[in-house]
Amino acid sequence: MPAAALSHWRDFRNIVLFTGAGLSAESGVPTYRGAGGIWREYNYQDYACQRAFDRDPVQVLDFHELRRAKALNCAPHAGHAHIRAMQAGHPGVHVITQNIDGLLQRAGVAVAAELHGSLWRLRCPVHGMREDLAAGAFAHRRCPDCVPDRAPWLRPDITWFEDAVNEAVFEHAAMLVDDAELFVGIGTSGAVWPAAGFAERARRRGARMVEINPEDNEASALYGEHIRLPASKALPEAFPIGG
Ligand code: APR
Repeated sequence: MPAAALSHWRDFRNIVLFTGAGLSAESGVPTYRGAGGIWREYNYQDYACQRAFDRDPVQVLDFHELRRAKALNCAPHAGHAHIRAMQAGHPGVHVITQNIDGLLQRAGVAVAAELHGSLWRLRCPVHGMREDLAAGAFAHRRCPDCVPDRAPWLRPDITWFEDAVNEAVFEHAAMLVDDAELFVGIGTSGAVWPAAGFAERARRRGARMVEINPEDNEASALYGEHIRLPASKALPEAFPIGG
């Protein structure tokens, strides 16, 4: 689809940008399933599920500390900046993301829903959420507010495989998707549910469906239009700001 076809994008009252790991790829953060993907190198059952955490919390925390350190060394790219500029000029641009790397937030984007949590938060089973932005803070942490000899390990506030999702976050995202007149899937394979269900939900509600992804994937059939370009190039072309 010629990206120019969306030059009137501001006419849509509510727009949902649904982002996946592909949006961060050009910043140097590895995706999950493509070439060089994280799940091609690591078995999630050893590093990214509660059973693995219960079995070997240090191995799981070290894995996530490695990902945090990598994400800290990556910078948001022109695509992230473009999303921020879209939001600055249009109150109805809502971002729901599957990404946990925080790059959207570092680019100044208002993120309405972090569907899979964040590498930048920890939580205690007793005390709940703790913000924790420093590097090196994940490793081998037990809750400092719990009784020392019984302090549980702090776990990353990430929705791992086999975890229940955060219902409140998903309900908020669903409300935005239900109002969307334009739904743009950016850099996602649509492989993981229930997040992947938002594209079908938007399509059923009659939203205009646009996919930004250099490759075809299992969710592509849900979209009526496809921009087969990397996000940093596709976003400024499809959603011009100036003029
Ligand atoms: N621009 C746009 N899309 C890109 C780019 C790019 N520069 N580079 C790669 N892609 C696309 C790939 O073609 C692929 O379809 O991004 C997609 C990334 O797919 P995944 O690696 O499966 O990532 P994602 O869809 O976000 O995974 C969903 O799976 O493991 C879980 O919780 C994790 O949130 C994640 C979820």
